[in-house]
Amino acid sequence: MMTVGIDKIAFYTPNYVLDLVELAKDRNDEPDKYTIGIGQDKQTVVPNFEDVVTMGANAASQIVTHENRDTIDTIIFATESGIDNSKSGAIYIQKLLNLSEFVRTIEIKQACYAGTFGLMQARDYVTLHPDRSVLVIASDIARYGLSTPGEVTQGAGAVAMLVSSSPKILAFNNDSVYMSRDVADFWRPIDREEAIVDGHLSTTIYKEMFLSLWHRYKEQTNNELNSFAGFAFHLPYTKMGKKALDQIMDEANPKQQIKLADNLRASQIFSRDVGNLYTGSVYLSLLSLLSHAKNLKSGDKIAIFSYGSGAEAELYSVTLQDEFLTGIPAEKTRQLLSKRKKVSVSEYEHIFSSQRFNSHEDKKTDASENATTVQFLGWQNGERIYQ
Ligand code: COA
Repeated sequence: MMTVGIDKIAFYTPNYVLDLVELAKDRNDEPDKYTIGIGQDKQTVVPNFEDVVTMGANAASQIVTHENRDTIDTIIFATESGIDNSKSGAIYIQKLLNLSEFVRTIEIKQACYAGTFGLMQARDYVTLHPDRSVLVIASDIARYGLSTPGEVTQGAGAVAMLVSSSPKILAFNNDSVYMSRDVADFWRPIDREEAIVDGHLSTTIYKEMFLSLWHRYKEQTNNELNSFAGFAFHLPYTKMGKKALDQIMDEANPKQQIKLADNLRASQIFSRDVGNLYTGSVYLSLLSLLSHAKNLKSGDKIAIFSYGSGAEAELYSVTLQDEFLTGIPAEKTRQLLSKRKKVSVSEYEHIFSSQRFNSHEDKKTDASENATTVQFLGWQNGERIYQ
């Protein structure tokens, strides 16, 4: 039987990092609230020469190779912090990566959920066209504002995935269940740079949708909790995954409970040090699980729970392929995180306030001339210039 799934995956996050213990002290909060209660240790800080396009391009460039570039028919760019109300971020990426003009380029949005929709579209396309592939990029900046309750859950980054037939890492099992419901837990009106959020309502809806989809999933498939080697959750903050899984944990046998708890911790490691990256978060959780879990083997099933406020959720499973371990950029991702430059709270506040949101004025960013990554150079005649 033909398999379709994720052949390659890569992560990128900007090069600056804030220690959340320092942030807690500055904000007169207890550090344990951030590191234990919410489950975040560090967050990526975004300089004004990075945005969803640069992060997406810097993630995708790690997986687009000489061999696969001509198989790519579509670039799907999932984001809720896009840079333009009309033009798709995927077109910039096509140019920056020097991809063929004979591709489809599109941007999709539904809060943190859209990357999953992108993968499902890619799955369906590749199933019909098994010799072609689709590049799916989930890229976002989680920005709540200085001294807001959401501040501790900020972060940024992009996950790029190449969907193809006979994939190296994992196969989709075609068993999705999904749901949508109009909820005012998180949204961002078109004239605002920061989201409006009711974090406690968001947590409640997330848990409710997970439970509801879990029951529906069990009804529609022959799976039970003991069928899975682990879960990847959307992680707006890492405690969220635990809150969801704890609701069903007693369905597993005692040995399985230990395994699921160990693998939940493995899935949280990268997000603890990066923060939320909205659309990409659930796939960073997947990457973290595959990079850190000690007990995974090919043929194992992983459940993936994707949630986007507003709200829409999807639960589905994937099966690990024979060569999955060699396809996972575990060490590369660890190095990317450990080489980030630490900034103080006041440096972070300065960087946070130095973003170039105003298209009416030609202005350069702090991009450096000899960078090896894609950067946003600034505005020219209302256009964003990249190099
Ligand atoms: N030691 C250990 N834990 C502590 C603590 C301490 N000293 N002080 C507080 N805590 C715990 C609380 O008990 C709570 O745990 P619980 O959630 O398991 O009950 C947790 O820390 C958070 O405390 P809380 O008072 O709820 O924090 P808050 O009102 O500041 O809100 C968020 C926290 C995460 C809801 C807030 O940061 C937020 O809204 N973030 C945005 C997230 C979001 O909704 N994104 C939407 C996309 S899905």
